[in-house]
Amino acid sequence: MRVNLSSPDITDKEINAVVEVMKTPNLALGPKMFEFEKAMAQYSGKKHAISVNSGTSGLFLCMNALGIGPGDEVITTPFTFIATVNCILQVGAKPVFVDIDPESMNIDPAKIEEKITSKTKAIEPVIVFGNPWGIDKVCDIAKKHNLAVVEDSCEGLGSVYKDRKVGSFGDFGLYAFYPNKQITTGEGGMIVTDSDELAETCISLRNQGRGAGGGWLAHERMGYNFRMADINAAIGIVQLSRLEEFKRKRNIVAQTYLDLLKDEDRIILPTVPQDTDMSWFVFVIRLREGYSQEQRNTLLHLLREAGIGCSNYFPPVHLQPFMVKEFGYKRGDFPITDATCDRTAALPFYNNLAKEDIELVCKELKIALDKI
Ligand SMILES: Cc1ncc(COP(=O)(O)O)c(C=O)c1O
Repeated sequence: MRVNLSSPDITDKEINAVVEVMKTPNLALGPKMFEFEKAMAQYSGKKHAISVNSGTSGLFLCMNALGIGPGDEVITTPFTFIATVNCILQVGAKPVFVDIDPESMNIDPAKIEEKITSKTKAIEPVIVFGNPWGIDKVCDIAKKHNLAVVEDSCEGLGSVYKDRKVGSFGDFGLYAFYPNKQITTGEGGMIVTDSDELAETCISLRNQGRGAGGGWLAHERMGYNFRMADINAAIGIVQLSRLEEFKRKRNIVAQTYLDLLKDEDRIILPTVPQDTDMSWFVFVIRLREGYSQEQRNTLLHLLREAGIGCSNYFPPVHLQPFMVKEFGYKRGDFPITDATCDRTAALPFYNNLAKEDIELVCKELKIALDKI
């Protein structure tokens, strides 16, 4: 690739932090894990932060800690990464999809209440691409119906909405640290919550069901090994301390794209909602209405042939083969999601993407648009 889709921002600071851990005997359950958790709790403004080995395992633990299981329903969006939905299936519950708002591409709060039944236990909204629009409305609905909110903010670390940090709105907030995320630990995730009880359950579940103060071989419940290693936590501490720098850099990249593409009327550019300090996750454009999925696929193919990293964030979750097999979903069930998924294209986006590379991407994008 001439320009990669994503790339982490690692300096000597992160490298030295890893080396320092390697010189100690504390490679797991050590001081760096607790230090990172403390920093994340402080950052999010939540009482507890529980580190895990991925955002996916964190989401699964939240469903588990809330006691969600067979016969229960969780309301969520079909326009997301698969992990949002898999955690519901993994505890034996049923995902109930609500179509999205066409501008923010987040779950449409106006369509949630009609999907609430006596089986609904939680709502799992997603901060899609870092855009927090609607999260407050979702929480209001949940409160009215006495439902838990698992805020999948795996793509939203750093965004602030109506003066509140993304990830702090729900009963649970989830952050993820895969290398394409706003900050990375290689692999990793963080659960945040104000609930002592839910935090205690998550801490136990991620550590083989061990209880607080119990022995190494005393297991209060069936658990998992979802712990974050100290090496990863050490990277996370440095990366979190650089979050404002990362936000600034990513904002410059986003503004450069917005400026270079502002007169390109064949595409729809991403927008930032009111009252938002946006922490950009990816830069996703959409082809204008009227373009087909086939044309978008050709566009992605042409961009890749030109050496430009790109992707179809997201294909619809409900149309993934295993979802169709299990639940019989079809095109048209969530028409706004279908139409959105048909026309999205994620362009190269990362902290240190140079202006010349952004110009190259925009030039190749225009050439590809001429050909589809
Ligand atoms: C919306 C969303 N939820 C969950 C996850 C899962 O995070 P991880 O890759 O750390 O398991 C991701 C990561 O890509 C995501 O984008």
